[in-house]
Amino acid sequence: MRKKLAAGNWKMNGLAVSLSEVEALIAAHPNPACDVLLCPPATLVSAMAATAAGRISVGGQDCHMELTGAHTGDISAQMLADAGASHVIVGHSERRADHGESDAMIRAKAEAARAQGLVAVICIGETEAERDAGTTLEVIGRQLFGSTPDAATGVNTVIAYEPVWAIGTGRTPTLEQIAEVHDFMRSELNGRFGSEGAQIRLLYGGSVKPSNAAEIFATSNVDGALVGGASLKAADFGAIIGAL
Ligand code: G3H
Repeated sequence: MRKKLAAGNWKMNGLAVSLSEVEALIAAHPNPACDVLLCPPATLVSAMAATAAGRISVGGQDCHMELTGAHTGDISAQMLADAGASHVIVGHSERRADHGESDAMIRAKAEAARAQGLVAVICIGETEAERDAGTTLEVIGRQLFGSTPDAATGVNTVIAYEPVWAIGTGRTPTLEQIAEVHDFMRSELNGRFGSEGAQIRLLYGGSVKPSNAAEIFATSNVDGALVGGASLKAADFGAIIGAL
């Protein structure tokens, strides 16, 4: 049985004052039915972990594949773990687009995360042009295989399906389209990892909000959500947690 996961990605938003939203969130949902994860900017990981005090999980938004070295501006999985993170997002489409990250790089980052005891939240998703061309499952299959380490398990890995065209746009796929991709990912993971593949949680991400969360969570093989904009406000993210 896979426990549902509500994950928030603050992206490049939030300052120390935003941690009051974390306090409000925890106060409003002291015993959530699902796991809860928030991924703030790296500068806030330590403070958020202290605020959360184990009541929710805290993660980074990216990590380098190397442990240490001359990589100006980057942060390692070890540093995130040292700051109190338990998870790290890798391969978000904004990293793939803005920083030219390949599936091979993302797999290496996920392996670096695992080596430091972090759960890797691996993001994949098709562009609108790819969906229009009818290649969605081909793209998803390629990214899923290429970005996921051979040692992936239900404990060290979460997969997030995020159609690029649904991120921050207010547009979402139909429930049938979400189910098609999630059923496909489940089948691919079962084929590659056997019974362990069935333990890997599959999140949907892209314009999830309080008004659509319940129907998305009720969709086949959806084990939770990776939420961007709606994770910044305790009331909105709390409502999404409540829908799980
Ligand atoms: O990581 C989160 C996703 O990019 C979704 O962002 O909920 O603002 O569409 P959004």
